[in-house]
Amino acid sequence: MITALLKDSYGRAIRDLRVSVTDRCNFRCFYCLPHGEPPLAPKQQMLTYEEIEYATAIFVSLGIQKVRLTGGEPMIRRDIESLVSKLARIEGLDDLALTTNGYFLPDRAQKLKDAGLKRITISLDSLKRERFKRMTGVDVLDRVLEGIHAARHAGLNPIKVNSVIVRGHNEEEVGDFACFAREHNIAMRFIEFMPLDSGHDWRPEMVVSGREIRERIEACFPLVPVKGGRGAETAARYRFADGAPGEIGIIAPVTEPFCGACSRIRLTADGQIRTCLFSKVEHSLRDVMRSTASRRETIEYIESVVLKKEPRHYINDPAFVQPARTMSFIGG
Ligand code: GTP
Ligand code: 5AD
Ligand code: SF4
Repeated sequence: MITALLKDSYGRAIRDLRVSVTDRCNFRCFYCLPHGEPPLAPKQQMLTYEEIEYATAIFVSLGIQKVRLTGGEPMIRRDIESLVSKLARIEGLDDLALTTNGYFLPDRAQKLKDAGLKRITISLDSLKRERFKRMTGVDVLDRVLEGIHAARHAGLNPIKVNSVIVRGHNEEEVGDFACFAREHNIAMRFIEFMPLDSGHDWRPEMVVSGREIRERIEACFPLVPVKGGRGAETAARYRFADGAPGEIGIIAPVTEPFCGACSRIRLTADGQIRTCLFSKVEHSLRDVMRSTASRRETIEYIESVVLKKEPRHYINDPAFVQPARTMSFIGG
């Protein structure tokens, strides 16, 4: 194991890089990008695959162990498989994952696997056709379900499914999702709604707490915490007490923040480092990479940026202001 060379000023080791490869998305989830993308950045501002590969290799040499490709919808970007295969070849990078809305998986899950992707996370907010359409803006529930099966068939493992639970929308489906996890051996993750929606419709009352989610599941299926401690993970993980397959993860950034153990850093599609989901400032790694900076100087730049990582988010403070960039730009 490479020792953590990237440490922030609070002593947190940075081990997890999340790379957004595009700001674009073909869905319109109301908690993320309800009205579609604002004018997109010019193409020349987007990092090329070669630049992403170069940056990722540097991060890995600094102790990053986990890389997740996100978006927008990462599978919209042309030939994402070729980026996956470049990253999969980086020595020392053992954990390469991707978060997708699942739309393109029926045809391409196998290609991703063949390119070297290990595991995948698919967003799914409802198992009911009408509600799925209302929450995501597109009537494609069956296709996403087919995508989940294609990912399984291709041998991507584990398969995680993310569901953002929002009051008045899908909280009564929590139990059904737990059944779904058991039936299909899925790591089902329930996420509290965070104020990162482009519509600025987030209100505290819309947050369904991790505690309520757990109670709703345990009304049907008792849970047992997964042994081994949580570390820097976002999710509190549980298995089913009766030994059924599948797993439950509860991600409760609003009511039970986990910033104290955060190991994450983000790179946006246009090459900005974000040291927190809720950062107010960004740091242009793109400008550094496109300058005459040597590899050593680029490393020094990254180290100096990491030292500026925020201690925590301020969602629950009265003076909280939503960051200008929304989830579709930052990547989940
Ligand atoms: P793995 O454990 O590697 O599978 O990844 P993960 O737990 O980071 O999961 P994933 O990438 O699927 O992220 C799940 C969700 O957690 C995201 O969509 C966000 O809603 C939320 N999330 C991820 N990272 C952070 C973070 O640093 N801070 C906060 N507040 N929320 C986060
Ligand atoms: N709050 C919480 N999670 C969100 N995501 C997107 N927007 C939000 C939000 N406002 C997550 C979804 C999706 C991933 C890409 O980002 O879980 O799976
Ligand atoms: Fe939905 Fe993800 Fe697209 Fe946002 S980026 S609109 S959460 S699929």
